[in-house]
Amino acid sequence: MPNKEKILVCGKLMLPQLRADLEREFDITLLIEQADPQAFLAAQGATFTGLVTGAGVPTNAAVLDHLPNLRVVSSFGVGYDHLDEATLTARAIPVGYTPEVLNDCVADLAMGLMLDISRGLSAADRHVRQGKWPAGPFALQRRLSGKRLGILGLGRIGEAIAKRAAGFDMDIGYHNRSRRDDVAHTWLDSPQALARWADYLMVAVTGGPATAGLVDDSVLDALGEDGFIINIARGSVIDEPALVRALQEKRIAGAALDVFVREPHVPEALFTLDNVVLLPHIASATHETRRAMADLVLDNLRSFYATGRVKASVPWAVVP
Ligand code: 8YV
Repeated sequence: MPNKEKILVCGKLMLPQLRADLEREFDITLLIEQADPQAFLAAQGATFTGLVTGAGVPTNAAVLDHLPNLRVVSSFGVGYDHLDEATLTARAIPVGYTPEVLNDCVADLAMGLMLDISRGLSAADRHVRQGKWPAGPFALQRRLSGKRLGILGLGRIGEAIAKRAAGFDMDIGYHNRSRRDDVAHTWLDSPQALARWADYLMVAVTGGPATAGLVDDSVLDALGEDGFIINIARGSVIDEPALVRALQEKRIAGAALDVFVREPHVPEALFTLDNVVLLPHIASATHETRRAMADLVLDNLRSFYATGRVKASVPWAVVP
């Protein structure tokens, strides 16, 4: 039996069992378990041929430059904004990720957030727990069914959200850079036009430099005082200080957020507002989906070492 390939793991493993799964087939080292990770990288980096990383773990020159014999990256998550595209493509390193398997759970949570911010579920729960019910009923909220949902970024996850929203008789609009001829939904030609049209603006676009700050003051003002925003994509897509101001000044009706710019840090100004729902980046965090994501992290590695190709390649990565 040949020696096991040496794999470096950056960041925490999002599913504890993944460690045992990886260990069965590979010789793995967790960088966070090294007493001095930088010294370890400098001394041992050249021994690794594979790298496992994950969404939210910066995977840039600081790590990659210490891995001269790196042949493959397998990333846990559908986002790839943490990966250094320029370095990985220049070095022609194949990169795997975990699309599709999380679509349903992310879309389920997106619907949950939209229902929550519209009907005030979390706020009503606080009303009961804080013993306020005997003093008076919870304030009337907004109906969701039959309203307009504007999806910013109609990709695989956006489509799964649209499918669910159709069950709520919602009218679906979207903005992508180019209009899609394979869907019947209303296309709006800018984020501002989409926000003006929508009652609920669902941010489902890919993160990274191309979409950083896409939702700015002009989009929030177009959404207006009766409009809600939901973000299950990346915090970077929204100008966070602008969002905080818009919420404080009630220039939009509310925001339901699973993602933030500086996770796990959330702007404290949001804690005291009642027109927000705040979640700790849990859209894919179910046993079933994290298991499926972990399986794809493994399959991408297995496939690479057997055939030279990962099973699911990030769109910009080299496919030999
Ligand atoms: C990740 C995510 O699971 O898939 C992504 O891009 O943001 C989440 O689903 C989480 O960040 C762990 O890596």
